[in-house]
Amino acid sequence: MINVDKIREDFPILKRTVHEKPLVYFDNAATSQTPQIVIDTIVDYYSNYNANIHRGVHTLSQEATDKYEEARIKIQQHFNAKKAYEIILTSGTTHSINMVASGFASLLQKDDEIIVSALEHHSNIVPWQMLCEKTGAILKVIPMNDEGGLQMDIFHQLISKKTKLVFCNHVSNALGTVNLIEEIIDTAHKFGAAVLIDGAQATPHIKPDVQALDVDFYVASAHKLCGPTGVGMLYGKEEWLQKLPPYQGGGEMIETVTFKKTTYAGLPHKFEAGTPNICGGIAFGAAIDYMNSIGFNEIAAYEHELLEYATSELLKIEGLKIYGTSAKKTAVVSFNVANIHPYDIGSILDKLGIAVRTGHHCAQPIMDYYQIPGTVRASFSFYNTKAEIDVLVKGVRRAVMMLG
Ligand code: ALA
Repeated sequence: MINVDKIREDFPILKRTVHEKPLVYFDNAATSQTPQIVIDTIVDYYSNYNANIHRGVHTLSQEATDKYEEARIKIQQHFNAKKAYEIILTSGTTHSINMVASGFASLLQKDDEIIVSALEHHSNIVPWQMLCEKTGAILKVIPMNDEGGLQMDIFHQLISKKTKLVFCNHVSNALGTVNLIEEIIDTAHKFGAAVLIDGAQATPHIKPDVQALDVDFYVASAHKLCGPTGVGMLYGKEEWLQKLPPYQGGGEMIETVTFKKTTYAGLPHKFEAGTPNICGGIAFGAAIDYMNSIGFNEIAAYEHELLEYATSELLKIEGLKIYGTSAKKTAVVSFNVANIHPYDIGSILDKLGIAVRTGHHCAQPIMDYYQIPGTVRASFSFYNTKAEIDVLVKGVRRAVMMLG
């Protein structure tokens, strides 16, 4: 069971006020807040062993290298990857997706097909469009339905021997829908296609097992799960990471360099050119430890309670419509009230100390489907409370009264 009062003590930011009101932070899908233990890890790194890794013979460099590689192992164990070197540390989900997209440019041929879901964040649409432009491959889209799920029957019609890659998010950032990724992965593999799952919105709520999923690539960002910004991961099956060419050239990713020829380093270094976000990687490991100390089953159960409570309380407001009503969703409520612009509601909520995201949430095709400019999105975390949801509901009522 979650002891939310105790957990809130771990997050210094939750004590602050905004516009002289206690902060109610409901923008967790954009970025989560940072517990003291992760902040301490960052301070400890810069105070005590800041050094470049994998290079120096000196003690500081060795200490930093050890901690960085320990973090990689924590991430490996968390996602149940077979090997630590199947975890590439990146600057975040977008970087991870671009790495795979850029690598596939040399593996795809004209008229090969790739399939993407209609529920994607722009970061899982644009790189594939760029890849299609480069290679002549064709992009096909699994359409969505009114509940904010995917039309899986159409997916089964779209996939064929021509399909080389399938991309889908585990959870939609705009709606919270949990997608049927097991079915997508199994089906894609029957046709010999590889699958990349964008786990940016799932990993704060669900502990994925990449071996059980048998997924080819799984990507995520640390800052959504209580870690710092600027660091994330790409899990790739060893066979795929061997096949893909390096993303960037530079130091650290080579074995030997002469002006005639360079040979590349083995995994994971082949994909980690340049000095990485050392502190960020170490703090990512600390964040994973912190989340596991609370427990993902407990997190999911508590957040589900918050979701149900928020959904039923918000729906009591006249004219309020929730977008994304799938039976399986994470703690995200995306809504509009009558014809009021989401930005206007968001601005009034901010004055009341409530942080939500408004707009298209980098998922314009979803907004086009519903024919709306955007939504107000309240996204909850295990450190939020029902009392905060009451503040939100009261705030939305007030905004509607002022704007309606
Ligand atoms: N992708 C993040 C969000 O949905 C930034 O808000």
